[in-house]
Amino acid sequence: MVSGGGTNLQALLDGVADGRIADARIGLVLSSRAGAYALERARLAGVKTIVVSKEDYPDEEEKADAILAALADAKTGLVVTAGYMSLLSRRVCSAYKGRMINIHPSLLPKYGGEGFYGSRVHRAVLAAGEKETGATVHYVDDVGIDSGEIIMQKRVPVMENDTPETLQKRVLEEAEHLIIVEATNAIVKKLAENL
Ligand code: GRF
Repeated sequence: MVSGGGTNLQALLDGVADGRIADARIGLVLSSRAGAYALERARLAGVKTIVVSKEDYPDEEEKADAILAALADAKTGLVVTAGYMSLLSRRVCSAYKGRMINIHPSLLPKYGGEGFYGSRVHRAVLAAGEKETGATVHYVDDVGIDSGEIIMQKRVPVMENDTPETLQKRVLEEAEHLIIVEATNAIVKKLAENL
C-alpha cells in the first residue's frame, strides 16, 4: 500500500525480482493517491494497481470496504504499507492482524505515532540532537499509530551538518530499503510455515 514516490515499493519489487524475497509475488499495489509515482513503478513491473482515495471514497466505511475488497480480490497473504499516508481503519487492520507490516523512518517507539511521518520525523530527530536514528518494520495493530510489535530495526548515524533532507535520504537508502526487504522475506516465510 503506497501514497507517494514508492522507493520502498521499488525495494520490494527489486527484492522479489532478485530473490531476496523468496516464494512470493506482489499481487497488487494499492495507492491512496492517483498521482503517486509508486503506481508508475508498479506498472513498469507489470503489477496490478488500484487507487482507493479520499476523493473517490469520502465515506470512511465505504473506503474500508473498497480496500478490503481489493485486498481479497488479490488473494492477499501479507499487506506491506510502504509510504502509505492515509490512516487505515480499525476494520482493515483487524482483518489483517498478524499479516500487515509497516515501515517507519525512525527507531520506534521514539518519533512515532500521531504527526510523526515523512520529514517531520527527521526534523524532530535533528531538533533533539540525536546522534543516531534509523528505521523500523513493525506489525500494524488495531491499537494505535506505529504501535504494533517491532519486527526489525536498522540504525544509521546522524551527521554534524545533516539537514532533514540528507537524513531522510540516509535513512531511506541505508535502513528502510534494506529492512523492508529482509523483514518482508522473513514474515512471508513465517506465514508460509503456518499455512
Ligand atoms: C519513507 O520515509 C517511508 O518510511 C515513509 O514515507 C517515506 C517515503 O516512502 N512512510 P516511499 O519512497 O514512498 O516508499
